[in-house]
Amino acid sequence: MIFSMKKIRISFFYRQLLALVVINSIPLIFVSTELLSSSYSRIKESQEILLKERLSFLSSTVASAILFDDVNTAQSILSTLEQDKDVRYAKVYDADSNLFSEYSRLNEADSSGFDSSNKEIEYAETIIYLRSPITFDNEYLGFVTLSADTYYPGYGKRTDFYLALVAVIIGSLSLALLLNWFVQRRLSVPVNDLMSVIKYVSRQAKYDRQLPVPNDAEFSELFIGINEMLNTLSRHEQEREEASAQIIQSSKLATLGEMATSVAHELNQPLQVIRLAVANASQRIASGNPDLEIVSEKLSRIDGQAERASAIIDHMRIFGREAKEELEYIDPKMVITNSLDLMGEQMRLNNIEVTSDLPEECSLVLGHMILMEQVMLNLLTNARDAIDQNSGERKIALRVFEDAEGVHITSTDTGGGIPEDVLPRIFEPFYTTKDINQGTGLGLSVAYGIVRDMRGTIAAGNTANGAQFTITFPLTSD
Ligand SMILES: Nc1ncnc2c1ncn2[C@@H]1O[C@H](COP(=O)(O)OP(=O)(O)O)[C@@H](O)[C@H]1O
Ligand SMILES: [Mg+2]
Repeated sequence: MIFSMKKIRISFFYRQLLALVVINSIPLIFVSTELLSSSYSRIKESQEILLKERLSFLSSTVASAILFDDVNTAQSILSTLEQDKDVRYAKVYDADSNLFSEYSRLNEADSSGFDSSNKEIEYAETIIYLRSPITFDNEYLGFVTLSADTYYPGYGKRTDFYLALVAVIIGSLSLALLLNWFVQRRLSVPVNDLMSVIKYVSRQAKYDRQLPVPNDAEFSELFIGINEMLNTLSRHEQEREEASAQIIQSSKLATLGEMATSVAHELNQPLQVIRLAVANASQRIASGNPDLEIVSEKLSRIDGQAERASAIIDHMRIFGREAKEELEYIDPKMVITNSLDLMGEQMRLNNIEVTSDLPEECSLVLGHMILMEQVMLNLLTNARDAIDQNSGERKIALRVFEDAEGVHITSTDTGGGIPEDVLPRIFEPFYTTKDINQGTGLGLSVAYGIVRDMRGTIAAGNTANGAQFTITFPLTSD
C-alpha cells in the first residue's frame, strides 16, 4: 500500500519546532549575555567612582591627624565608615608605611596583601581594593587603603539573571508554538483535502474529483496543477472507456453472427409445433364436426409457442443493444439460464452435453445481465471450439456456488485444456490460436474487461481433460 509508513518520517511540525527553538534561543542568549555584562560594567564603574571620592575625602581629612600625630582624631574619622555597609576595612599608614590607624568590620584579618603591594586598585572576585597617598603642602605623609564588597559579578545574582533568561526563552517559545499551531492548521486543511483526493483516486481508480483551491499562493498553484492533471486523466479514462465499450459492442456483434444459426434452430422448433397444431386444427374443422375443446387446446399451444419465439427474438434484440452504464443487482443463476436459452440449441446440435449445477438460493451480485451473458457466450463458444478440436468426451459443466470469498461461476469443459505456453496470454486482446476465419482473439479479453468493470475476477486453469474458467464476484455488503 502507498499509505503504509515503512520509514519513520519526522513530521513537518517537529522540524519547524526545532528550527524555532534554535532561531529563538541563539540571539536571545547572545543579546542577554551582552546586556548582562554591559549593565554590570556600568554598576562597577559607578561604585568605583563613589569609592574613589570617599577615599580622597578620607586622605584629605586624615592628613592633619597624621601631621599632629593625633591617633584619636584619625580613629573617629575612620569610624564614620561604619555607616557604609560595603566598606570592609580602611587603614591609614604613615610615611614609613607603619599602620597609624584602622577601621575594620571584618572579624579576621584581611590576607590579600594589597596594602603592601603598592598597587592603586585591585579586584578579587567580589572585593575591590583601593589605595590613595596622603599629602599636605606637597609633602608625602603616608597612604590610606580601603576595601569594599562589590555588587558585581556576584555569582548568586548571575543565577537569578539566568533563571529570568530561561523564563523569557520558554515564554517566547510558547508564543511561537501557539503561532506555529495556527499556521499548521492553515496548512493541515489543504493537506487533508489533498490526501482525501489521492486516496479516492488510488482506491476507486476514478479521476472525477477536483480539489478546492485555497487562497495561499503556494497551495493554490499546486492545487490548480493537480486539478488540471485530474481533468486530463479523467478525459483519457473516458476515452479508454468509450474505446472499450466499442470493442465490447463489435465483439458482441460477432457473437450475434455466430448465434444466428443457433437461433434459427431455436425458432424453428416453435414454428414446427405451430404448423403441426394449425394443420391438426384445420383438419378437425374441415371434418365438419370439430371437437371445440381440442381445437381451443391447439390454439393455446400455438399461442404459447408464438410467445416463446417472440421471447427468443426479444432476447436477441436486447443482447444487440449497447450496454447501459449502471450496475444492477443480478442473479448469477439467471446468467446461466439466459445464456443457455441463447446457446443451448446450438450445443445440442454440436452433440455437446451441457449440464448446469445451480444452488437453490444465491446472493445477488452487482453486475450487468446482458454483458454477463456475453461473457458466458464467449466461454461457451471457446469450449465448443476446444471440444471440436479434441476427440474425447463432449461435455461442458456450468456451476454456480457461493462461499466466503463471494459468488463463483465456473465453466469446465472436456476440450483437452489450454497449453502451458498459451495460458498466460489468453486474456490479451487479439491473441488467438485459431484460424483467421475462426477466431478474433477478442472473446476472453472482452470477458476480462466486462468482469473487471463489475469488480469481479476471471481466472483460467486446466483440469485432467479440459479447461476451467472461474468468475468470482465479491459479495455486496448490503
Ligand atoms: N476452453 C478453452 N480450451 C482451450 N483453449 C482455450 C479455451 N478458451 C480459450 N482458449 C484459448 O484462448 C485463446 C483466446 O481465446 P479468445 O480470446 O476467446 O479468442 P478466440 O476464441 O477468438 O481465439 C483461444 O485462441 C484458445 O487458444
Ligand atoms: Mg473466443
